[in-house]
Amino acid sequence: MEKSLKEQVLTTLRTDNRFYNIKEHLRDVLLKEVSNIYKPNIHSPHTNQTNLYDEYYNEFYHSITTGPLEEAYSKFVNPVLGFLKEKSVINVLDIGSGMFVNSGVLAYELLKLNKTINIVSIDKKLPPFIALNHASDEIRYLLYESNFSVKSSRLTWQVILKDARTIKTNTMFDIILHDGFSPYKNPSLWTLDFLYILYKSLKQEGIWISYTSNKSVQSSLNFLNFKIDFVEPVGRKRPSMMAFKTAKHKSNIDLQNPYAIPMRDITLSADEDKIISDYFIRVYILKSKYYSPSKD
Ligand SMILES: C[S@@+](CC[C@H](N)C(=O)[O-])C[C@H]1O[C@@H](n2cnc3c(N)ncnc32)[C@H](O)[C@@H]1O
Repeated sequence: MEKSLKEQVLTTLRTDNRFYNIKEHLRDVLLKEVSNIYKPNIHSPHTNQTNLYDEYYNEFYHSITTGPLEEAYSKFVNPVLGFLKEKSVINVLDIGSGMFVNSGVLAYELLKLNKTINIVSIDKKLPPFIALNHASDEIRYLLYESNFSVKSSRLTWQVILKDARTIKTNTMFDIILHDGFSPYKNPSLWTLDFLYILYKSLKQEGIWISYTSNKSVQSSLNFLNFKIDFVEPVGRKRPSMMAFKTAKHKSNIDLQNPYAIPMRDITLSADEDKIISDYFIRVYILKSKYYSPSKD
């Protein structure tokens, strides 16, 4: 049987020589922190018929407090509509497209505003169509009906079924919807190296948006010179982030935290357990050598 992600990460950590450069008591703290991240999900995968569950990442596709629709509106669509209103043609890159709820709702709202929309969605998997009893279902259904390639006068929608890290496109995007599973479980989508690919595909003044406020992701966005805005939380305590490709601005990010270092994937092909183990080892080396807990 294939090892779980938790088992893979714990094995990778213990076989990395740098693990033994971490002070002994902190090694235990690290192993506990990692075990806690991958603890079993307390919510039954079958409680919600409209929210999919991924066994490997041990996570739901959408927030279990708000559900898919409210999450799409509050974290991905409402925060960007105002910024897109001046544009007549909008190119959207949809990373981790999953059930296509974020992109479907955005397309639905932009079509109502008479925009022309070109979407490129990318994911490793194609889940079945799930109706949400909302007017945007029709657009998502059209995508499934047309074999994942829509070409109409005001909407083009192309779905690429592969690892997003291998994306090659000449299109420059106005907006990137970034929706992987949580950064510590699905780090392949949250490294500095992958975010750099996205940065290069974004137009000047373009918008990157996601649901996370993870410190490592903040530090990578900051390193790439994105201007970061925090979006008020809905259904949870922490805010989410949107980031602008803006030439001149002052960083507003607190980087005085050992977790605020980028996750790395230099070859853009490393396994999830390798990326996250490397990150946590670097975090804990910082903690053991240089960091005073009074800064927390
Ligand atoms: C939180 S779900 C996305 C939900 C989706 N945005 C929606 O509106 O329904 C995360 C998605 O990321 C995809 N994913 C994870 N790692 C990936 C990778 N390296 N490349 C492409 N897709 C990936 C998963 O298959 C999953 O569909």
